Amino acid sequence: MAALKSWFPTQIYHAPLLRATAAAARFRRELERECHQYRELDDAGQKWSRRNYPGGYTSYGSLDKLHRLGGGFADLERHLQRHARTFSRSLDWDLGQAGLVLTDCWINIMPTGVVHSLHLHPLSTLSGTLYLRVPRGAPGLKLEDPRLDRFMAAPPRRADAARANQCWVTLPARVGDIVMFESWLRHEVPPNTAAGERVSVSFNYGWF
Ligand code: NI
Repeated sequence: MAALKSWFPTQIYHAPLLRATAAAARFRRELERECHQYRELDDAGQKWSRRNYPGGYTSYGSLDKLHRLGGGFADLERHLQRHARTFSRSLDWDLGQAGLVLTDCWINIMPTGVVHSLHLHPLSTLSGTLYLRVPRGAPGLKLEDPRLDRFMAAPPRRADAARANQCWVTLPARVGDIVMFESWLRHEVPPNTAAGERVSVSFNYGWF
């Protein structure tokens, strides 16, 4: 009898950051307010964004350790820790005496037309994003099959291929959700065609 099994899966973690309560909604509103405040104050970030994130604002080049500055971002670090642990258990990582440490945490504000092209997060272990504002029709997170650069003579996938066999998957962005993945997994945010700003907070974990 033939045995057909899937090995070497690529795990992607997708969950609400917090249980859906009034307190969770308040936390998100407050965090989003802080995002807009940082944008106003962050001259260096605005300058960096003009060069590297045209039309949008990211604090990636200026304020990329927001969890160390207190406020809602310090609370976010506490809320994220449980998810990072769950994900690392699911991956069967043997961290030894080390732990997963939040190393970077930054803001992304994408008005209409802004795009974040294909990339990965070098020197990190786990990466992810929390969605704070997603206008109707705003793009999700598009992830690439990590084997794509080795396919050579592999035939293309049928248009109706099973989801697990497709070369790209786009996870919808939902307010209050986090998506986490191993940092080597390439991903992008397609152009925001929605009317309104898409606001998210991205983060990296290291292992030490
Ligand atoms: Ni990214």
